[in-house]
Amino acid sequence: MKADLYERIWGWGVGVMLVFFFATLAHAALRHGFHPPSHVETIDPRTVFQSEGFRRQGVSVDPEGRITVTVVGMMFAWVPGELVVPAETPITFRLTSVDVIHGFQIVRSNGQAMMIPGYVSRFTTTFAVGEYLIACNEYCGVGHHAMAGKLRAIPREQWKVPEVVVEPAPLPHAGGTHASH
Ligand code: CUA
Repeated sequence: MKADLYERIWGWGVGVMLVFFFATLAHAALRHGFHPPSHVETIDPRTVFQSEGFRRQGVSVDPEGRITVTVVGMMFAWVPGELVVPAETPITFRLTSVDVIHGFQIVRSNGQAMMIPGYVSRFTTTFAVGEYLIACNEYCGVGHHAMAGKLRAIPREQWKVPEVVVEPAPLPHAGGTHASH
């Protein structure tokens, strides 16, 4: 095939760029654990704070010792705004929004997911010891720039299991508990 000199130069240039882009993708996926979200769970954004999974926010541990962090995004804050987790331990995040789309990004880590009203985003990652800024990377309104939180990953032996999750007592007028009367 006869190709013009400039055509060949550009052809090689494009080829080099493609190889570079695929290499960065492979590096991010294999070395840093970046991958597209594949988990789909829906939720009613109007009743997030009353729902089973989000009634209590923050760090919790299940009977098998797995650590889950639950965060709700709202204009213009993360609830809760500060998290303390053990380092070098898989942490599963469960995230949702009660108003608009927010971008939950744990800066300097591979922890990042969109918070979309109506959906629960989930990802699992581990952290090195340190303090991480949690920034909003999706423009969500006038207070977007102020939407920041903190995650502290502390050595595993210093971390204490948060107090046991206690189901809130039923309201006195809820009725259900007095059905036998
Ligand atoms: Cu929340 Cu930008």
